[in-house]
Amino acid sequence: MTRAQPLVLNVNGATHLVDAAADTPLLYLLRNDLALNGPKFGCGLGECGACTVLLDGVPTRACVTTAKVALGREITTLEGLGTRNALHPVQRAFIEEQAAQCGYCLNGMIMTAKALLDRDPQPSVATIQRELSRNLCRCGTHVEIIRAVQRAAELLAAQAAMPAVSAAPIAADGVRR
Ligand code: FES
Ligand code: FES
Repeated sequence: MTRAQPLVLNVNGATHLVDAAADTPLLYLLRNDLALNGPKFGCGLGECGACTVLLDGVPTRACVTTAKVALGREITTLEGLGTRNALHPVQRAFIEEQAAQCGYCLNGMIMTAKALLDRDPQPSVATIQRELSRNLCRCGTHVEIIRAVQRAAELLAAQAAMPAVSAAPIAADGVRR
C-alpha cells in the first residue's frame, strides 16, 4: 500500500510537513502536531471563535476548516503575531487594558482584531462590536476588549508614525553609510 504524501502547511512563515489525512481539522494539526496552542478548542462547531487563525489574512475557524482548505495558503496563528519580548501591538493592548478574565476567548478576539485593524486602522466602536460579535466571551469582558482594540489602533498608528530606522550598517568610524 502506498503511503499518502505528507501535507505541506505554511504556518507563521515556515513550511511544515505533517502526516495526516487531508480532511483532518486544521486546529488538530496546529495544536497536536505543531504544538501551536494559541488557537483554542472551544465548541468545535464553528460557533465560539476560540480557534480562530488567519488564512491569507482572513479570520477562519480552524476547528471546522480541514487541512485541505489550508494547503497553499498562509496560515497565521497567535504565535505568528509577536514574541514574548516583542509583542504585537494588539497583544500589548490586550495586556495593557487587562482585557481578560479566564483568557480562553482571547486568541479569537486578538486574531479577529488584528485582521480588522489591517483592513480598517481606525474602526469605530460600532465596527469593533460588529466584527467581534461572533466571538464569544463567557466571562463578559466585552468592555475591556473593545477598549483594547481601540488602544491597539492607537499603538499601531504611533508605530506607523515613527521614522524608519535605516538598515544600513554602521561603519567602524560610527557613520551609517
Ligand atoms: S472551537 Fe472553533 S469556533 Fe469554537
Ligand atoms: S475572558 Fe474568559 S471567555 Fe473571555
